[in-house]
Amino acid sequence: MKREIIQTLDGSTTIHIPEWDESYHSKHGAIQEAQHVFIKNGLSLFKDKELAILEIGFGTGLNAFITYLEGAKMNQIIDYVGVEAYPISSEELVSMNYVAELNALDQENIFDQMHGSAWNEKTILSNRFTLTKRQQFFADIEDKNKFDLIYFDAFGYRVQPELWSTEIFQKMYDALKDDGVLVTYAARGVVKRSMIEVGFVVEKLAGPPGKREMFRAKKIS
Ligand SMILES: C[S@@+](CC[C@H](N)C(=O)[O-])C[C@H]1O[C@@H](n2cnc3c(N)ncnc32)[C@H](O)[C@@H]1O
Repeated sequence: MKREIIQTLDGSTTIHIPEWDESYHSKHGAIQEAQHVFIKNGLSLFKDKELAILEIGFGTGLNAFITYLEGAKMNQIIDYVGVEAYPISSEELVSMNYVAELNALDQENIFDQMHGSAWNEKTILSNRFTLTKRQQFFADIEDKNKFDLIYFDAFGYRVQPELWSTEIFQKMYDALKDDGVLVTYAARGVVKRSMIEVGFVVEKLAGPPGKREMFRAKKIS
């Protein structure tokens, strides 16, 4: 499918798929959305902890890079796994402005290494952050009791409803450790029902700019 680069309302870039009218991030602000959904409502629950994160949809690497930066501020040791079936191209990558927009020019080499690192291998990016990019379909995820936190960042229910099904959420539930947490930008009733069906306890939280609500789901032991 054709993909094009667009600018979101906070100045940060994203990738847009015209055929679906779907973007990798919120058009109201890619960075703002990532900070709100995944960092404020996810990562910040684990201050001063060692944790394993599973990202559903590595995409542009924005969530991974923000997690690297914020994890340092929160004194965290992070083992990060990003699953992605369709990696972005190097042409798309150079059009992304995340390093500058996050005022992280001194960490540009980390963003480059995130993309330059081999697929399906664990790469040590620092003494407190390892990254494994797994080229894999979400339906093939078979991890069990391995992650503390899941960033569920698949394309929306409107375009890929099969990724918001009980089959996929069962995989997410199984991949989490007891007391693990899943965060997602989504807030549809049908999504919440699938999460509850597999055993999650679901909270509705205020959404990022431009979106009223979002979900956080917990695997309660
Ligand atoms: C919303 S974007 C993720 C954005 C990403 N988190 C970021 O920070 O840029 C969804 C991602 O899921 C990937 N994807 C779509 N269907 C998939 C599938 N069935 N299995 C694995 N990856 C898939 C897409 O290629 C895309 O990169």
